[in-house]
Amino acid sequence: MDRIIVRGNGPLRGDVAVSGSKNSSLALMAAALLGRGETRLENVPRLRDVSAMLEILRALGTQADWDPEDDHAVRIDASTIRSPEAPYDLVRKMRASFLVLGPLLARFGLARVSEPGGCAIGVRPVDQHMKGLRALGAKLSLDHGYVEASAARLLGGNVVFDMTTVNGTQNVMMAACLAEGETVIENAAREPEVVELADVLQRMGAEIRGAGSDRIVIQGVEALRGVTHRVAGDRIEAGTLLAAGLTTGGDVSVRGVDPGTLESTLDKLRECGARIEADADSVRLVAEERPRPLSVTTAPFPGFPTDMQAQLMATLCIAEGASVVTERVFENRFMHVPELQRMGADITLSGRSAHVRGVARLSGAQVMATDLRASAGLVVAGLAAEGDTVIHRVYHIDRGYERIEEKLRHLGAEIRREG
Ligand code: UD1
Repeated sequence: MDRIIVRGNGPLRGDVAVSGSKNSSLALMAAALLGRGETRLENVPRLRDVSAMLEILRALGTQADWDPEDDHAVRIDASTIRSPEAPYDLVRKMRASFLVLGPLLARFGLARVSEPGGCAIGVRPVDQHMKGLRALGAKLSLDHGYVEASAARLLGGNVVFDMTTVNGTQNVMMAACLAEGETVIENAAREPEVVELADVLQRMGAEIRGAGSDRIVIQGVEALRGVTHRVAGDRIEAGTLLAAGLTTGGDVSVRGVDPGTLESTLDKLRECGARIEADADSVRLVAEERPRPLSVTTAPFPGFPTDMQAQLMATLCIAEGASVVTERVFENRFMHVPELQRMGADITLSGRSAHVRGVARLSGAQVMATDLRASAGLVVAGLAAEGDTVIHRVYHIDRGYERIEEKLRHLGAEIRREG
């Protein structure tokens, strides 16, 4: 099994282009099911999760593949759909595949999608997705681990989510595009990936207002068409590379990302003492001193993203003083803590908070990646540690970071992969 070996090698310096957003790509690929004709997405990252989504789309009978002429473009045409059923073996690999439920139901009146089940970072139920689709008149039931949904034609309705859910908002918004009449989603997620999806749906012919606020209004239309779209840069990958820059005391620029989607992350990096310069589609971080400690609490957008929590915690492990990191989005997202402790970090867990007392230096150790962002946190820590850090189970990182070693090596890191 692959391992990544990182050796602390001083400050990272240079600039690097980020890949397209993984989370946007996954939602947009599901949205392609709604369009008559082909949808072509460009700037799609070559990642395991994207391949998994392509596999699911193909299992449904869709033509879905990488474009032979552009290794970062996918082409999806749903006109050949045979069976609107997404099987367990594929869905369990990636929860985001549940995003096909809304589009399938809206377009084909029927969908059968395996319930995704739990995952390492928490229970992560899909009750809100189901509640939202029911509000549009769908009949939903659970049968042998599958969510079965049907509706001759969805009807617009009022959906009030109990909590902010990104994929839940996206699923219901996609379904509502083809429903008869108006749908209002209250307590909608405001993440940039929701806004990008709404923009693309509108270009496909949908009528959506309010995406980016907590109230989205969708006027159903008869049909949508395929489109071509270039996926926005990945704000979490950008944040991860900047955190690596700060932790190593470096000078790192990331290109191809909208700084407006990164504000809460940039605020925290500044609070840690970094100097940040941003322009239209790039950000430069200069670390002039050892990181300063801070308090941070994860929250839905525009709050500090849970997907950046492990990476910022890695930075705080070597800060000059004590920090508190509170996780409010997922109930079990501290699996990186025992691994960071193996590297000499001084962290105490208490409920949903981690108390991090900065140490002067981390030391390389054998550690285990437990989920995608936890593994990114371990890479960031390893870059600032003395000696070798060997990260096992790196398949987690390949789910969400394209050519991460190459990008970090380009910034001067000593990092390699062993089979
Ligand atoms: C998306 C992102 C993920 C990110 C997360 C929060 C994708 C593919 N993934 O995941 O990277 O960490 O947003 O920013 O876009 N919940 C329920 N019932 C539901 C739905 C959610 O209880 O039906 C809870 C979850 O357990 C969690 C919270 O709501 O505690 C937020 O989850 P949600 O925003 O839905 O995360 P995802 O959309 O799955």
